Amino acid sequence: MMNDRTVFPAFLHGGDYNPDQWLDRPDILAKDIELMKEAHVNTVSLGIFAWAHLEPQEGVYDFDWMEKIMDNLYANGIYTVLATPSGAKPRWMSEKYPEIRRVSGQTGHRAFSGGRHNHCLTSPVYREKVKQMNTKLAERFSKHPGVILWHISNEYGGDCHCELCQQAFRNWCKEKYGTIEALNSAWWTHFWSQTYNSFDEIHSPATGVGNAVHGLNLDWKRFVTDQTVDFMKEEIAAVKAVDPSIPATINMMGWYDGLNYYKFGKHIDIVSWDNYPRWHTADDVAIAQDAAAAHDIMRSVKRAPWLLMESTPSMTNWQPTSTLKRPGVHITSSLQAVAHGSDSIQYFQWRKGRGSFEKFHGAVVDHYGESDTRVFREVAALGKKLEELQPMLKTEVRPQVAVMYDVENRWAVEDAAGPRNAGLHYVEDVHAWHRAFWEQGVPVDMIDMECDDLSRYKIIAAPMLYMYRAGFEQKLRAFVENGGVLIGTYQTGIVNDTDLCYLGGWPGETMDLFGVWNEEVDGLPDGATNGMVLCDGDHRTYKVSEICAVIHAKGARVLAEYESDFYKGMPALTENAYGEGKAYYVAARPGEDFLHDFAACLVKGTGVEKSLDNAALPYGVVPMMRTGENGEKVVFVQNFTGEQKAVVLGREYTVFGTEEKVDALTLAPYETVILNK
Ligand code: GLA
Ligand code: ZN
Repeated sequence: MMNDRTVFPAFLHGGDYNPDQWLDRPDILAKDIELMKEAHVNTVSLGIFAWAHLEPQEGVYDFDWMEKIMDNLYANGIYTVLATPSGAKPRWMSEKYPEIRRVSGQTGHRAFSGGRHNHCLTSPVYREKVKQMNTKLAERFSKHPGVILWHISNEYGGDCHCELCQQAFRNWCKEKYGTIEALNSAWWTHFWSQTYNSFDEIHSPATGVGNAVHGLNLDWKRFVTDQTVDFMKEEIAAVKAVDPSIPATINMMGWYDGLNYYKFGKHIDIVSWDNYPRWHTADDVAIAQDAAAAHDIMRSVKRAPWLLMESTPSMTNWQPTSTLKRPGVHITSSLQAVAHGSDSIQYFQWRKGRGSFEKFHGAVVDHYGESDTRVFREVAALGKKLEELQPMLKTEVRPQVAVMYDVENRWAVEDAAGPRNAGLHYVEDVHAWHRAFWEQGVPVDMIDMECDDLSRYKIIAAPMLYMYRAGFEQKLRAFVENGGVLIGTYQTGIVNDTDLCYLGGWPGETMDLFGVWNEEVDGLPDGATNGMVLCDGDHRTYKVSEICAVIHAKGARVLAEYESDFYKGMPALTENAYGEGKAYYVAARPGEDFLHDFAACLVKGTGVEKSLDNAALPYGVVPMMRTGENGEKVVFVQNFTGEQKAVVLGREYTVFGTEEKVDALTLAPYETVILNK
């Protein structure tokens, strides 16, 4: 069965369009339409930062200019993704109502007017202003035939430490804990005399408040997420009250950890996100994997197809270097998003502005103003390609493997003092496990502990599941009992969801599930290593580093032992049969070689489907598949290197959109070939 999903008439191609910066240049606005058609653009995002033009003075609305633009776009076959403009507040508003400006947690000062993404999420004034604006926009435009999606605000993020937010946080804590005694014990505040006598004494973790109370830090981050979700829900409610039929999205930021994005999923109709990989600044294969994992995180927020809302057609202007995408990279980078489930390729930005901060940010249309540029040609070629992909519009990504990436766990891990302040590397571990499957062409979901259906996966890799959020142990147990293969590692099952350590041994209530007891944890200095020696076969040894958990098998079968040190001969890798499934425990941080071999062995053992079943994949060539309603598949075979690569496919495939049969491919640098499976 297909997911509950939002389907658009075509793969969307276009991007952020800011005609409000060019209203005095009708010639340029006319040229935009001409160039959009030439670039095979079918959708633009409008009004993201246009509040000052939509409400130039308090209560005075001017939507006529936007309607003209929208009409003209629609008449030329171009849809509008309509933004609510709350990402940047107009100057008149922030001058008149200082409470809408954020107070910094670093300095304790309120921001001056100016900038963007810096409004207080609690301020009743801002919420009211946004509600009025959103209502008016919806009243005017939701029946416009060109409008296909609401783009709610822009890249929500950050926090505010003003008095209104402090009060809201105190109420949030009261709601959660009921009594101050319950909060004191959940946060372990009797440590260093941090005890609270009443909720009124609570202050957000800010400079000067200290960061010793981990439960406070964690709950503040949860509060910020909840407050942002609440703000977003009000924005969405305002537009949907007028017309509930237009879907709503927010544009997110992949690995960004200021918010727990998984909490947003059920309140939006479709996920979208902004992807800016730094091609050519390191190994492009690692960069491709980073983008792949971010796509997988974003898709997993709703476990449904999603939209690439922003990407650059050439380079950014805010990264350390504005490195140009090499020829071919734009198309392959974009198709990578499609391979991971995106139904769009949108850009920031359509046209470069003449002034201010983003005047040198890549755009489809350069200051030069014509279409005879390298970038424009690649964009147009991609637009054409997306039209050719129309037959696969309703396919989607359906992984049988999940890697756990839990943002609340990340907050807790990164706040923990010990066992390795030189780097616990949770995110790197998530990457490493993702990569082990990705490089084999195995689609992967990136799920968090709230995932309500683990049974759809054959394998779940859950590195460093340090904090068990309430009830998660039971979900894991049921998953393995019913035949799932679970991989846990060092630093698993150590604290509960208010960051209190489990008593009675680690990994907490899953000691029997893994069949091990983790007695001690050795944090190794940088550069130090130990070995993991396989017990069977050729006694192969894999290098391990950074963290070695000293564990005892309590029912589990020992697959590998430590090679040296006082825990030489003790278990380093175990396997525990539990119910119909198996739980593995990897006690020390392995390198890529082990992850590669181990993941390949599990994929084979569980019959997980790879995008290409038996292909010999050279380094940097990664296949990824989308599946249709009737099980039909399309496979994107992508070369993420600057070198030509030969791929032996292992059997015959048809090249997508043709009758051509192939059993081998020669991929040019950064080339993508799409096959039917
Ligand atoms: C973000 C924002 C855009 C723009 C781009 C530049 O994604 O949403 O408005 O600033 O960055 O890369
Ligand atoms: Zn505030």
